[in-house]
Amino acid sequence: MAQLARSKFLLLRFAEEVTFNAQAFIEGRLELFANSKLTAYSGVVQRDVQLTVEEARWLESLPESQWIELSEALRDDAPPVVRIQELIREGVVIVDTSADEVSGSDGTAPEETSPFELPEETVERFERHQTLDSIPWHPTSLYLHLTNQDAEVQNALKAEPLDLVIKTRDAEASANEFLDKHGEPPPAFFQAPQADSELIPLADGRRQGSIYHALSRRRTIRAFDPDRTVDRETLSTLLRYTFGCLGRHTLSPRFFSLHKGSPSGGSLHPIEAYPVVSRVQGLEPGFYHYDTRLHGLRQITACEAEPLAEQLTQLAQGQTFVAEAHFVVLLVARFQRNFWKYKKRINTFNVILKDAGHLSQTFQLIATDLGLGAFYTGAIDPFSILRSVGFDPAADRFHHGPIGILGAGFQAEDDQTLMPLEAYDPIQARDRSS
Ligand SMILES: Cc1cc2nc3c(=O)[nH]c(=O)nc-3n(C[C@H](O)[C@H](O)[C@H](O)COP(=O)(O)O)c2cc1C
Repeated sequence: MAQLARSKFLLLRFAEEVTFNAQAFIEGRLELFANSKLTAYSGVVQRDVQLTVEEARWLESLPESQWIELSEALRDDAPPVVRIQELIREGVVIVDTSADEVSGSDGTAPEETSPFELPEETVERFERHQTLDSIPWHPTSLYLHLTNQDAEVQNALKAEPLDLVIKTRDAEASANEFLDKHGEPPPAFFQAPQADSELIPLADGRRQGSIYHALSRRRTIRAFDPDRTVDRETLSTLLRYTFGCLGRHTLSPRFFSLHKGSPSGGSLHPIEAYPVVSRVQGLEPGFYHYDTRLHGLRQITACEAEPLAEQLTQLAQGQTFVAEAHFVVLLVARFQRNFWKYKKRINTFNVILKDAGHLSQTFQLIATDLGLGAFYTGAIDPFSILRSVGFDPAADRFHHGPIGILGAGFQAEDDQTLMPLEAYDPIQARDRSS
């Protein structure tokens, strides 16, 4: 007998829709009225589903962590059968048909026990629900992860580009246009109102040395020299200090953690590096995985230069400079590594995103020290990245999550993309303001 439960992966909210009275509008009056629509984001199918309050009440009465007989759920207050079929298709109601299958597994035909015909997606939705349930995602983090991956969300972002596009040529005009439209920004420098006491001046603080030099020189570089290649030694250094294992903590004979150049929440280092090589001496262009244990690359796929450039641009939501870099590194988190320790915690996903920030800064500083220009981009196409490194987005997206792309190479000599950078000295500013 098929059994039913409410999906554990529903996020309910009211969305207000403001409309106007068309008749009044024709008569020259503006009459606005708001309709509240109850919407459930269904994690199983990764989309919004509209619900009525009555449907929500019926859903509320269903169990989530137990199963009930389908016939039991079809009480008087249940939605019509066609609507329940739709809710099954939308992953809002989950049906387990395995009991039926078991009865058929001895060679006899399964009994026709369902009170209505189940949609053909029923088993697939059930399996997806069970997969999600087996991973200790916190519901709201899962929502954040899934909606970030959502093709519709990505397309909407692409369709609504920010109107402040920093063009190096007419930067002032475009900045002014933005200011006219949106007003002044919150101030760049912030003086905390609760700390309005007199300034305690600090020493100049500047130092010599490669770390300070790299910090002062680091800039996001988006134009690269197509005629040069990076040597393998340079790539090795960059990967070793950014993603390599620099030490181990053995906590028990059964468990050790890694020590790397960047901090990592829980010392779990869940972000894997997938280098994509375009112009590195002695390496075939294509996709690789960095083997941290042995400090080496393992090839996933080789690629011709031109399709590789196209593919890279697509992975970065159309940003062509990404394909110009000598090599890029796709950052892909292994969620299970953190869920092992931090189950169903609301901040587990945040911690992983923050780890990516640390890796980015370490990468950029080392690249700068090595004489390379580097960038980080968060505008990515997660499913294409998953596919490009050999994952199946349908099955693997809950376990492996692309977060961003790092890239590096020799800066183009005639780089037209850089905004002029003025020096800033807070000591002089202090002297001026006193
Ligand atoms: C989380 C994050 C996401 C970013 N995403 C993009 C991006 O999608 N495209 C891009 O060109 N730059 C991206 N950047 C780079 C920023 O635009 C850059 O750091 C900023 O303009 C400051 O310039 P600077 O790095 O030279 O100091 C991103 C940076 C961060 C930290």
